[in-house]
Amino acid sequence: MDGTTVDSIDSRHLRDVMGNFPTSVVAVTTLGAGHEPVGMVVGSFTSVSLDPPLVSFLADRSSSTLPKILSAQRFCANALASDQEALCRKMAKRGADRFDGVVWEKSPLNNPILDGTVAWIDCTIDKVVELGDHLLVVGRIQDLRVASVKNPLLFFRGGYGDYSSSAQLLLDGLRGW
Ligand SMILES: Cc1cc2nc3c(=O)[nH]c(=O)nc-3n(C[C@H](O)[C@H](O)[C@H](O)COP(=O)(O)O)c2cc1C
Repeated sequence: MDGTTVDSIDSRHLRDVMGNFPTSVVAVTTLGAGHEPVGMVVGSFTSVSLDPPLVSFLADRSSSTLPKILSAQRFCANALASDQEALCRKMAKRGADRFDGVVWEKSPLNNPILDGTVAWIDCTIDKVVELGDHLLVVGRIQDLRVASVKNPLLFFRGGYGDYSSSAQLLLDGLRGW
């Protein structure tokens, strides 16, 4: 097997198998020290607790965006829509101006809310936990909204896809008759 072996699990194999677990695509955003918008794409965003209301995401220790989020002590989780693959690629690109040409407005906590998303959740940072080569960032929800009725952007087996409910598939099938 090629790839790095970590505790006897091959890292390539781990990535390949994990790729079979579909994830949502979320842009985590905040404002940097100079009030400039910063953000990164994560596939690890999840709900944690209802009472208190907590969510979380995992960030690689090597992320250059993570220290900015931690120093702001707040972030907004933007659920990207299926027509926002280009925006996703832009927000995940290293060394690029990720907000060049991106339309956004300030959330109640002064985090960037991206235009055209499915939903957003505005958080203050509640806790940061070191886990292996990642940090688990737990956010306490301060505000949240459904922004549109669009379908979400999904990541699966290394590619992007759309979501179709069985009701939608049925309608599409009927239209085909
Ligand atoms: C679909 C997708 C999911 C990703 N999920 C994560 C993630 O959960 N955690 C993470 O640290 N990086 C994740 N990344 C990588 C980051 O988006 C980005 O490449 C990384 O933040 C590097 O930039 P930075 O140094 O500005 O943080 C993901 C990228 C893509 C395209």
